[in-house]
Amino acid sequence: MKILVTGGAGYIGSVVVSELLKMGDEVIVFDNLSQGHREAVHPDAVFIHADLADRAAVDDALHTHKPEAIMHFASNTLVGESVEKPFLYLGDNVRNALNLLESAVEHGVRRFILSSTANLFDDPEEIPIKAEERIVPGSPYGESKFIIERLLHWMDRLYGLRYAALRYFNACGAAHEDLGEQHDPETHLIPLVLQVALGQREKIVIFGDDYPTPDGTCIRDYIHVVDLAQAHILALRALEHGSRTYNLGNGRGFSVKEVIETARRVTGHPIPAQIGPRRPGDPAVLIASSEKIKQELGWQPQYPDLEQIIATAWAWHQKHPDGYAA
Ligand code: UFG
Repeated sequence: MKILVTGGAGYIGSVVVSELLKMGDEVIVFDNLSQGHREAVHPDAVFIHADLADRAAVDDALHTHKPEAIMHFASNTLVGESVEKPFLYLGDNVRNALNLLESAVEHGVRRFILSSTANLFDDPEEIPIKAEERIVPGSPYGESKFIIERLLHWMDRLYGLRYAALRYFNACGAAHEDLGEQHDPETHLIPLVLQVALGQREKIVIFGDDYPTPDGTCIRDYIHVVDLAQAHILALRALEHGSRTYNLGNGRGFSVKEVIETARRVTGHPIPAQIGPRRPGDPAVLIASSEKIKQELGWQPQYPDLEQIIATAWAWHQKHPDGYAA
């Protein structure tokens, strides 16, 4: 299949591109490189350096390459930043998705995969969180993804655009030693902890130890990026049977302290940690139920073990201590 991947130079997008190419699909990466890395774009993919805000560039990409499917990763993705800059999220994220969707409909694209988020579940009634859980976006970021899920619902109803909305919990790990997690600035727990192990930071600050959890620190569900990528591929193939929405996690939660302790074991570094204040917007516990995708598509995580996940990230960080540009 011919697939256009927005954000294919980013962390999750680049891994999905690599997995699609392995399966024999043709891939066109559309990325403005504002957060992605040119070095992360697979050499066998066509690369278009352009912005989704540029409707003519989007039209041109779809007209020239005629993809059968779109995977949409390109987005602003930070919960905390979205609270400070709501218009970047409720504005740009939504406008860019609308540009893409309008062009997709006009060019007869019938399949669409959305990179959605666990930030839709700020106040879950049940843990682990099922796909049917009520939606309470935790931030303008989560709200922007929810709006795009609703746009997709209408595109399906009105134009027959089949979609899968995949709500990721905490994506992490690296795909072999070549594709890893690098954000600028880095805000994610695992890369920050590994930067301490590399001697690039003095310590990790734990954002609060007074949460209602066994050790007082937040619990998250860490899912390996290759497992996420596999879920995208399964969901894409399943679209011929209809649109769908899945939560994607490991189904197990680890506290911030457990993540740091595991990283100490993996790296052999003491990784000094210090307790700091809570970070606004962090819910205490987020654990996914991925039962729906397991039952419907037979998805099974290949990296369920946190130590193994962190080991893959550590291998990438050791090989690329200064990130992609190095
Ligand atoms: N944390 C620290 N210290 C740090 C960084 C993070 O204690 O220096 C803690 C956070 O408070 C949180 C946990 O580590 O409890 C994980 O934080 P991350 O920033 O790595 O990830 P988030 O859970 O905040 O966010 C991720 C994705 C979002 C997505 C969200 C869904 O980055 O895009 O999961 O829940 F929306």
